[in-house]
Amino acid sequence: MIGNCSFNYANAMEDSIGVEGVSANDITAIMDKINDSYNKLMEKYYEKKLGFMDLIHTDLKMYDEIKEYSKDFDNIIVIGMGGSVLGTQMVYEGVRGVYYNEIKDNDKKVYFLDNSDPEKTYEVLNLVDLKKTLVFVISKSGNTAETLANFLIVKNKLMNDTKDYKNNIVIIANGGKLGKIAENENYMLFKIPENVGGRFSVLSSVGLAPLCCMGINIEMLIAGAKDADKSCRSKNIFKNPALINAVIHYILYNKGKTISILMPYAERLHKFGMWYRQLWAESLGKDGKGQTPIVSIGAKDQHSQLQLYLDGPKDKIITFLRVNKFKYDLVINSESSDYLNNHKLSELINSEQKSTESSLKEKNVPNVCISMDELNEYTLGKLIYMYEMQTAFMGELYGIDAFNQPAVEYGKEITRKLLKENKNLEFKSANSKYIIEL
Ligand code: PA5
Repeated sequence: MIGNCSFNYANAMEDSIGVEGVSANDITAIMDKINDSYNKLMEKYYEKKLGFMDLIHTDLKMYDEIKEYSKDFDNIIVIGMGGSVLGTQMVYEGVRGVYYNEIKDNDKKVYFLDNSDPEKTYEVLNLVDLKKTLVFVISKSGNTAETLANFLIVKNKLMNDTKDYKNNIVIIANGGKLGKIAENENYMLFKIPENVGGRFSVLSSVGLAPLCCMGINIEMLIAGAKDADKSCRSKNIFKNPALINAVIHYILYNKGKTISILMPYAERLHKFGMWYRQLWAESLGKDGKGQTPIVSIGAKDQHSQLQLYLDGPKDKIITFLRVNKFKYDLVINSESSDYLNNHKLSELINSEQKSTESSLKEKNVPNVCISMDELNEYTLGKLIYMYEMQTAFMGELYGIDAFNQPAVEYGKEITRKLLKENKNLEFKSANSKYIIEL
């Protein structure tokens, strides 16, 4: 697999964009803080608190059995929320592409139940023959309402369809209601290392068990992460892409860049953007701190968002993701356009990325770019690991715990309470004078 990946941060620096950028002095001024953050993170790692960094050493043979077992099924459904499902979606779509389910007739069809939207669950259940479907139910806590709800609905339908319904269900949980159900009813069960948090768990059983059944090369995914570990563990800030990017984001945050935009110029990376959005928001949005992460897709969002990025408030830093070689390419053959004729679509999209980059530079909007030769399991593995490390470094720079999510837990509690009390679930404002009919 072709796997070169490089990180270019020139357009975030003062030399390129003047005072809106990061100067050498800005970095020197916080060098003690940077070293301190690095050391603290490594201490946590050696104290076995950062399980996500150990996942690159997992013996992948543990997934051979489930991979073999899955061969008898035509479809896969993954049920989970947030960190328990986004990573799998990101890798699946990142490798396979957006319309894979529709175009590959002889491969497994893959569906995700990642919401409590009744229409989505209804439609998925109508699309698949459940008897031929392997269902992964994933929840670290085992208590997430949406996951339990979808599981119970799917299980009931499966029980109606086949008496051997237990063969179709795989549970990945560490306890809670789901863990109990798994034990009592004897389903196939995977555990998640306790020291690996939801949004950092894609390279654990949470992601790898379903992904290997979907035909994803998990060995290459881990190989990419392992190689990225070498640079992302370097103490030298100028050789460590995760650390320098965290430092750039931190310095610019303190200069008022409170929005971090990820802009991949490849549709296959859309879900990577969604995964990043969760990682950055849920890990770092704490104690009044945090950058708002936004996902934009190039080139199409040039026709939707770029006006604001170029000419709006100077409160953003943009990260481009660029793929040099696409899986498929098409040539435009028509003399009706002098500038498009004989060019490939890949040349068009990549020229658009370059031109957006230079127009942002001209307007002194900080931007960085990660370029990869190809988008495949190996390069995705690198990207995943770099972003996990970058988020962890950023947490240390902010002085917050990047690995908890108290506000999310609070929200889950309120939902459970509301349902338990069987309150009128239709939300009514205490003061109806603020309600207007549309
Ligand atoms: O990152 C996190 O911890 C969260 O996004 C969780 O993954 C999400 O809330 C789902 O939790 P659970 O896996 O316990 O069902």
